Amino acid sequence: MASLGVNIDHIANVRQARRTVEPDPVSYALLAELGGADGITVHLREDRRHIQDRDVELLRATVRSRLNLEMAATAEMEAIALRLRPDMVTLVPEQRQEVTTEGGLDVASQVGVLAELVGRLQAAGIGVSLFVDADRAQLDACSATGSRWVELHTGRYAEAPWTQQPQELVRLIEGSAMARSLGLRVNAGHGLTYQNVEPIAAIEGMEELNIGHTIVARALAVGLETAVRQMKALVQNPRRDPLFGQRP
Ligand code: PXP
Repeated sequence: MASLGVNIDHIANVRQARRTVEPDPVSYALLAELGGADGITVHLREDRRHIQDRDVELLRATVRSRLNLEMAATAEMEAIALRLRPDMVTLVPEQRQEVTTEGGLDVASQVGVLAELVGRLQAAGIGVSLFVDADRAQLDACSATGSRWVELHTGRYAEAPWTQQPQELVRLIEGSAMARSLGLRVNAGHGLTYQNVEPIAAIEGMEELNIGHTIVARALAVGLETAVRQMKALVQNPRRDPLFGQRP
């Protein structure tokens, strides 16, 4: 059964729209945990557009589930991770112009550098996950870095028109099996919604889904605790028909 990591970056987006103190993502992390979040995920971006350094520091002190820090593979972020010791670091690609993380990390072109970084983080007791596309070359490269986890990028599946969604789902199912055959543990995320999450949650061996935008969007109507509880129910008990939702 997959667990649910709740990404609270979008709470910080609302705060940063006015550069004020509310809403505070640290308080909302508590509400997400009350709703059943198995982990709290934040992305500390180089440009600090939403989550701030103080948020990660306070979350490290207050999160009672697991803290997953998404970050770029830079010296600045490594120093922060080594100081704050999140439970997990997920390495993601980052471009200043993008609205959100667009593609998976190109691990294959930088295995050596990433292997060293993964080694330093793991030596400090931090789990490391690499956010990649479900692609054989990338998964082989992930394994070569010594990382224990991958997070499969579900953006293409989420954005595909319904006629192509089954193909994208198969790519993720095969990618997950490939990763597991390499000894990697498998998480997934990006673009998942209440409507499309179930086939991904039902993938054999899926450990954790990291979901943010759709939960924060629903929270505006029903509150964060309820929104998390509703997502958790889908993640824990997905319908097993892999094509459900792809039919007209
Ligand atoms: N996983 C990763 C690596 C991400 O970068 C993001 C977006 O910050 C998510 C999961 C969550 O994506 P969404 O907000 O679309 O649910």
